[in-house]
Amino acid sequence: MYQNILSHQEAGILTITINRESKLNALNIDTLREIKEAVIAGNADAQVHGIVITGAGPKAFAAGADISEFVNFNVEQATKMSADGHSTMDTIEQSGKPVIAAVNGFALGGGCELAMSCHLRIASENAKFGQPEVNLGVPPGYGGTQRLIQLIGKSKATELLLTADAIGANEAMEYGLVNDVVPMEDLLPRCTEILNKIGSKSPQAVATVIRCINAHFEEGTNGFKTEIAEFGKAFGTKDFKEGTDAFLNKRKASFER
Ligand code: COA
Repeated sequence: MYQNILSHQEAGILTITINRESKLNALNIDTLREIKEAVIAGNADAQVHGIVITGAGPKAFAAGADISEFVNFNVEQATKMSADGHSTMDTIEQSGKPVIAAVNGFALGGGCELAMSCHLRIASENAKFGQPEVNLGVPPGYGGTQRLIQLIGKSKATELLLTADAIGANEAMEYGLVNDVVPMEDLLPRCTEILNKIGSKSPQAVATVIRCINAHFEEGTNGFKTEIAEFGKAFGTKDFKEGTDAFLNKRKASFER
């Protein structure tokens, strides 16, 4: 069904693997479209409670947008490429189910932007992050100028965006770009552990928290007002009844998917 990604579902977790190892998992347009489709499918599947995005092989998560594909693009084609890429990143960010980037090597350019659109980032010790687009005569085109500021602040983001310097996993951790750094063999197990923990919580509340977090960054939206409305709405859900009943009756809550 997919040409550029592998989609594997096991025990409630959908793992999307960018499968272009010989090109360091460079993100061509079809790959980004397939990632978007897979995330949408994961959200529609009641069996799935969390999603991992990773890259094939030990070297790269994704070494950027596919330079060989866009090298001859004109202004219109490049604008469409950027808009379509943004749409994939927004789909990931707005996923009601948590999405973790398991960063197993280079996350450069579009690869870094893809990781930043995920809700959490776990890095292997060999991971490298950077936005080298200024070397190519362009700015980042998949949200990098915005999400890097959101995640690590304007000062350090500006430095990385203007110098094109890449940083290692530990530095990324220091800046708050990643949530954890683990040996390569622990990368997917650590993501599974986190997703299973989140998966034991109220799915409706998890989706609501994601919406509230995203509201903070939405143009023209007041995140506090969003939270008030979402808090009120939550009282009409089955999950609220189950969660509070379980607490008051000193039992473990069991939420339906
Ligand atoms: N787009 C297209 N192809 C890419 C790519 C990209 N972003 N990144 C790597 N590749 C390809 C290389 O062209 C090479 O293909 P080939 O074997 O057919 O020549 C293959 O992946 C392996 O890459 P290579 O450069 O030989 O590996 P390396 O270990 O020497 O260097 C990097 C690794 C990541 C430092 C280097 O590949 C690189 O700088 N990539 C581009 C990073 C970038 O600018 N990203 C932003 C794009 S907007």
